[in-house]
Amino acid sequence: MNSTVKIAIDGPSGSGKSTLAKALSKELGYVYVDTGAIYRTVGLYAKRNNIDPHDEETLASHFDDIHISLKWQDGSQKIFLGEDDVSEDIRTPEASMYASAVSALPKVRSFLLSMQRQIAERENVIMDGRDIGTVILPDAQVKIFMHADGAIRAQRRYKELLEKGKKVTYEEVYNDMCLRDKNDSSRAVAPCVPAKDAVIFDNGSLTFEETVKQAIKIIEEKLS
Ligand code: DC
Repeated sequence: MNSTVKIAIDGPSGSGKSTLAKALSKELGYVYVDTGAIYRTVGLYAKRNNIDPHDEETLASHFDDIHISLKWQDGSQKIFLGEDDVSEDIRTPEASMYASAVSALPKVRSFLLSMQRQIAERENVIMDGRDIGTVILPDAQVKIFMHADGAIRAQRRYKELLEKGKKVTYEEVYNDMCLRDKNDSSRAVAPCVPAKDAVIFDNGSLTFEETVKQAIKIIEEKLS
């Protein structure tokens, strides 16, 4: 039986999941969980410790040393590797590629599974990721799968990185995104695909306000 409300928002990078999920968490008062940040933190651990992010056995032998915790400040999620706030460090293009590589490893996925489920058992959550509706929270009451054209997504991500002062070109962002899309949707475990009972939500032509409004409508319908 469900004791908490679980809203799963999945989709490829740049589909606007996290912006939407953050806005919904404010609107509904639910905890926002960005699961991509958790994979990014494992990727960052591999990078900092010179571990090949494709080397499952070596990375798995370090699991006892990977202590990840989440904290929420003013509605936004902060993520810690041990004592270190890595919320910013996990956002570089290099960290993205490490995250994509480690997230394809079955042992990494099962290492992180219970952590994600436990949060959703304690709180009403809006959880965004790739496999939330299919694997992590198959019993979520609401599942939304975001879809938008690759060029639109790359443009959004490019703008976001520029605003943060990162030095990148649009081509780099677009190429990285295509590569990550391919990795994330074709991997053997928990690929980024919609759950059978997910609502496919294409927000490519919608403004942010329209996207939030439409998502709230979907949620209200599902919860009623
Ligand atoms: O959403 P993001 O770009 O921050 O995610 C970083 C990487 O982690 C991305 O390559 C896909 C992977 N990921 C995943 O495999 N499963 C999730 N639930 C969330 C992210």
